[in-house]
Amino acid sequence: MVGVLLIGYGARECSIADAFSRSPQKPDLYIADRQKNPFNVAIAKEHAVIPNLDVGGIVEFAKKHKDQIDFGIVGPENPIINGVRDEVEKLGVPMICPTREFALEGSKARQRLLLEECCPEANPRFKIFDSKDYASTEEAKKELVLWLEELDNKVAVKPDKPALGKGVGVWGDHFNTREQIIEHFFSIYPSPVIVEEKIDGEEFSLQFFTDGFNLVPAPAVRDYKRAFDNDAGPNTGGMGSYKDAGNILPFMTNKDLDDATATGKRIFKKLGPSDGLRGIMYLAFTCAEDGLKVFEINSRLGMPEAQCIMPVLKDDFVEVCFDMINGNVKNMHFDKKATVATYKVPPTYGGKERVFENRAVDLTKALELKSKYGDDIRIYPCSMEVTNGKTRAMNSRTVCAVGIADSIQAAREISLDGINAVKGDLWNRTDIASAGHIKKSIENMKRLRRMC
Ligand code: GLY
Repeated sequence: MVGVLLIGYGARECSIADAFSRSPQKPDLYIADRQKNPFNVAIAKEHAVIPNLDVGGIVEFAKKHKDQIDFGIVGPENPIINGVRDEVEKLGVPMICPTREFALEGSKARQRLLLEECCPEANPRFKIFDSKDYASTEEAKKELVLWLEELDNKVAVKPDKPALGKGVGVWGDHFNTREQIIEHFFSIYPSPVIVEEKIDGEEFSLQFFTDGFNLVPAPAVRDYKRAFDNDAGPNTGGMGSYKDAGNILPFMTNKDLDDATATGKRIFKKLGPSDGLRGIMYLAFTCAEDGLKVFEINSRLGMPEAQCIMPVLKDDFVEVCFDMINGNVKNMHFDKKATVATYKVPPTYGGKERVFENRAVDLTKALELKSKYGDDIRIYPCSMEVTNGKTRAMNSRTVCAVGIADSIQAAREISLDGINAVKGDLWNRTDIASAGHIKKSIENMKRLRRMC
């Protein structure tokens, strides 16, 4: 019997657990979770709550079951950045995630400098503001103002350290005056800040699976980062996502995908090849007028991007994982289906409202839709816990409904049916993968490509 250690807390890890459950090998899952996620509790052979997913707690859990565990896989970035692979592998359990050395999301500055070396054309113009380099705050401010002059204020301001997209401020979206940029900058500084050129364009994510030597891309996925419809409001961890039936998205060209894959390969080559890279390489791109720009690199699957690819993975995911460990990853196969993922979130999420009192959530009706849609619907709880058979929402994204169909619009119908059937004081974006939103993306790319 194969045993798998799975570390996570959200809908992304439910989609990974779900992929394992479809394996003919029927592995036993040993899940280390931040809370009693109802999906994980139901599917796990052993389930442990480790509230901060700290490496020490994970190692203790792994040690207890190490004779039954063949390998481990990690969803979120924090344990990866904190060296979970390095520590768990000391027990003799191979891990699917990069070593601490290759956890690139630990520093956005490092990502920019790496891109400068291997794919400068995919880097926006940027400047790293490190307080070590300035004698005083005034000096840093002077330099910032000069840089804003040069970029005509059209910038994105990002903390060096991971902030799940939430510490990022963008011209035109989060600020409209130079004073607001400076205020945002100093809400982060003296911690290091990256101020980079704002790139106009459409975004997509490309997730690669790797054994450290071979790099295999999954189909492209669109993430909806902003809290409200029409891409208004603050950045969030992602309110939903979609993928088309093929490998590209409706606003992309095949060349975009080829260029994105080539960029991934160049970054990979610059870093390795190395067994330490085993796991996931996630690249977020902006399709701009003059080609692709990378705006983020992670060493984990995206959330909600994972939920758009894992349900349509045709291969036995246990075998894929063994191949990743043995340096044998080749092509991966995905059903030629479109997928749409929509989240329902608490009233306080994205700063929408100030209080969240009634936290009861009932998934019964949503789960019953399985009798209508079969495997074409997946309900993945996220920041939710089950106690004495009752499910309640916590503070972050609550639950994700994934629809799977031949077209994006048909998948969207299923996803919306699922999310509307979730009962609780929660809300969701209504325009995830809508025909109108996709049309806007296509038109925006046509306009930008004409400009080039
Ligand atoms: N959805 C963005 C991320 O996972 O980083």
